[in-house]
Amino acid sequence: MTQNYEIAVLPGDGIGPEVVGCALAVLDAAEARFGFTTSRTAISAGASQYLATGELFAEVRDELQRHDAILFGSMGDPRVAPGILERGFILEMRQRFAQAANVRPVRLYPGVSTPISGLTPDRCDLVIVRENTEGAYVGQGSTVHAGTEHAVAMQESINTRAGIARVVEFAFRLASRRRRKLTLCHKTNILVAAGRLWQQVVADIGADYPEVEVDYVHVDAMCFHLPLTPERFDVVVTDNLFGDIITDLGAVIQGGLGVATSANLNLDGSAPSMFEAIHGSAPDIAGTGGANPSGAILSLALMLGHLGEGAAAAAVEAATVQVLGELPALSGPGMGLTTDEVGARIAAIVRDGAADTALVPDSVLTTLAELARP
Ligand code: IPM
Ligand code: MG
Repeated sequence: MTQNYEIAVLPGDGIGPEVVGCALAVLDAAEARFGFTTSRTAISAGASQYLATGELFAEVRDELQRHDAILFGSMGDPRVAPGILERGFILEMRQRFAQAANVRPVRLYPGVSTPISGLTPDRCDLVIVRENTEGAYVGQGSTVHAGTEHAVAMQESINTRAGIARVVEFAFRLASRRRRKLTLCHKTNILVAAGRLWQQVVADIGADYPEVEVDYVHVDAMCFHLPLTPERFDVVVTDNLFGDIITDLGAVIQGGLGVATSANLNLDGSAPSMFEAIHGSAPDIAGTGGANPSGAILSLALMLGHLGEGAAAAAVEAATVQVLGELPALSGPGMGLTTDEVGARIAAIVRDGAADTALVPDSVLTTLAELARP
């Protein structure tokens, strides 16, 4: 029987619909080539929807819940005050759907230019696993005596043992399938209470993974080591805010936000996982054809790996890598091809079975399906 997956497609704002359109063209090609099908539901959400109706995550939660996975474009628009969509949609989704692990591969693909001089692809292949539901992203914050010179702003960070454990456990499983090294990134010399809990959980769970070497790096030192010696890292596990920051650094190293991708994984099967490029809605280039759809297409590859379509995931990743190597610039007018043309080229390679998976040995994308559930 042909396997069918229920996919919620949430293009969102700015360049989101353009890059997701490309990902769907590649999905069509993958279905034709690999013999599975998808039923897709388009979900209207984001700035325009919010401005027209006031709707945020709560209004689409039930609809999203019944799907096997969510393919997400981007959200954000200058007409909506900062924080409304971020908290009201993105963080709500991560928390309500228990998308505990934000998995962000940092891989320099062959032919992609990096600002780090002398860096070669063989030295840059790591995965940052970011705790996705707690830390500084949970404390609502409050201000006493606001607007006076006695104003007191409080912004707490929440760290639960259970929340840390589920993401650390996932990171160990990932590391044991890769080069067997796990690095905890934190700031234990200053954030002593939270740092101690993270270290304790890593030590406790690490006892079940004696084959995985454990290392520790402070987050500020990480900003030094990551660009200069990325080969030092295999799997990096870190808290929500540190993960937000160092994954942007990772994206720069691997050639820019146009390429970087992520999976927001629900690890207990209680709700769908969500897949998105790391870039934002880039309203300044929306509609110009200058957006690079690679990040969105690689998020499709992550989604396929998660669904158990490992061969399709590997083909999509390899085809994307092949086309990335051909582009003179990674985004903007110098890219040489428009957004749709890049998408169509990648789709054609997938459809024709011409994707050379040897281009990306040891793909992280293909192993996610097995790892996401214990
Ligand atoms: C990210 C983004 C989000 C975050 C924003 C848009 C809420 O920066 O996914 O990294 O801070 O997590
Ligand atoms: Mg971020």
